[in-house]
Amino acid sequence: MRTRPLKVALLGCGVVGSEVARIMTTHADDLAARIGAPVELAGVAVRRPAKVRAGIDPALVTTDATALVKRGDIDVVVEVIGGIEPARTLIATAFEHGASVVSANKALLAQDGAALHAAAGEHGRDLYYEAAVAGAIPLIRPLRESLAGDKVNRVLGIVNGTTNFILDKMDSTGAGYQEALDEATALGYAEADPTADVEGFDAAAKAAILAGIAFHTRVRLDDVYREGMTEVTAADFASAKEMGCTIKLLAICERAADGASVTARVHPAMIPLSHPLASVRGAYNAVFVESDAAGQLMFYGPGAGGSPTASAVLGDLVAVCRNRLNGTTGPGESAYAALPVSPMGDVVTRYHISLDVADKPGVLAQVATVFAEHGVSIDTVRQQGKDGEASLVVVTHRASDAALTGTVEALRSLDTVRGVASIMRVEGE
Ligand SMILES: NC(=O)c1ccc[n+]([C@@H]2O[C@H](COP(=O)([O-])OP(=O)(O)OC[C@H]3O[C@@H](n4cnc5c(N)ncnc54)[C@H](OP(=O)(O)O)[C@@H]3O)[C@@H](O)[C@H]2O)c1
Repeated sequence: MRTRPLKVALLGCGVVGSEVARIMTTHADDLAARIGAPVELAGVAVRRPAKVRAGIDPALVTTDATALVKRGDIDVVVEVIGGIEPARTLIATAFEHGASVVSANKALLAQDGAALHAAAGEHGRDLYYEAAVAGAIPLIRPLRESLAGDKVNRVLGIVNGTTNFILDKMDSTGAGYQEALDEATALGYAEADPTADVEGFDAAAKAAILAGIAFHTRVRLDDVYREGMTEVTAADFASAKEMGCTIKLLAICERAADGASVTARVHPAMIPLSHPLASVRGAYNAVFVESDAAGQLMFYGPGAGGSPTASAVLGDLVAVCRNRLNGTTGPGESAYAALPVSPMGDVVTRYHISLDVADKPGVLAQVATVFAEHGVSIDTVRQQGKDGEASLVVVTHRASDAALTGTVEALRSLDTVRGVASIMRVEGE
């Protein structure tokens, strides 16, 4: 084993960074044996230097992250600051000064992954980011390496623990959205500002990363259709139950049936209780992958938290250090397929639509005609009347999102349709 240590600069020492430092110290001997050389924490960049950080030598702490990555003797920079800047510039500077990079930064990778990969390639360095998608769950490496000889057709996942916790609460207790969110906040599962989670931004960043790797195609954050889950109601869960379904916020990356294009989207959807993703409870994450040769695979585990996320960071650190010792690099960006990313209108799925209608003869026929005129075929209809008003629940066969949107617009213009109470896609069948 080489005795000269590999030097690691840790950028950020918060929820994830502090656990990375802890594991690097407590597992130092095992890490050295697995890598073939010891790893040394050479510096820790933070914002508040005076904060007491258990297990961290205060002499290593600096607020000058730029100087740390420019030192020239750093082998690997671990970026766990988060956000776009200064993380982006620090990573670019790290490559320029000869370091490889391990990051957990989904927002940055989804926005600027292509440029960062190009910078890594230009300088002959590694860029690894297993922790950026679904915390501890191995996903990037299985997609990029284990399935490199297969053809992935679909990635369907619960990739945000906060929203899964909220939806699971609504499902199991009958609580409304706000009540479930309040509980998630009180228990520390939701941030004070939960927008990134509940509006689906976090999941959309992960969907962009997963789709890019799965389909060997550059998928930008703007290519991902996104709908949050703040409008999901207790009534939606009741309807889902009647259909033998539950509701999850899903990230769905799909190759079109003809294989010529792909789509990526995030939105709440009904899935059958028999689908493996339906039983993913609490803040857990799970990703279902469908490929030509392997068939169906499911990856399940904790999608966030300091220690689980640090596990993924450490796995990358070991891989990058091994590459470094061997004078090689791991796989970079693979975007050779360059498939077009189709708009949401082209997505084909089933829909559950709940309408408030006048309770009088002929309404059902009128509504059915609108569906037929737009080429959306109805699977089932359920009608419930009360005091001259009725609710009509329509479940369709597979149709394009564009056809469904046209149908709903036409339904809204009918005098007999008082309102469209909810539209929910039905997935996983
Ligand atoms: N938390 C999770 O469960 C989780 C899961 C998966 C991925 N991630 C990703 O991991 C990354 C880190 O998340 P986190 O939860 O650990 O964040 P965090 O707890 O807020 O920690 C951020 C760290 O960065 C430091 N920092 C902030 N701005 C800085 C600057 N300009 N220069 C130097 N240091 C700076 C902070 O310093 P101070 O300590 O002085 O404030 C803090 O140590 C993010 O990209 C996040 O998306 C997190």
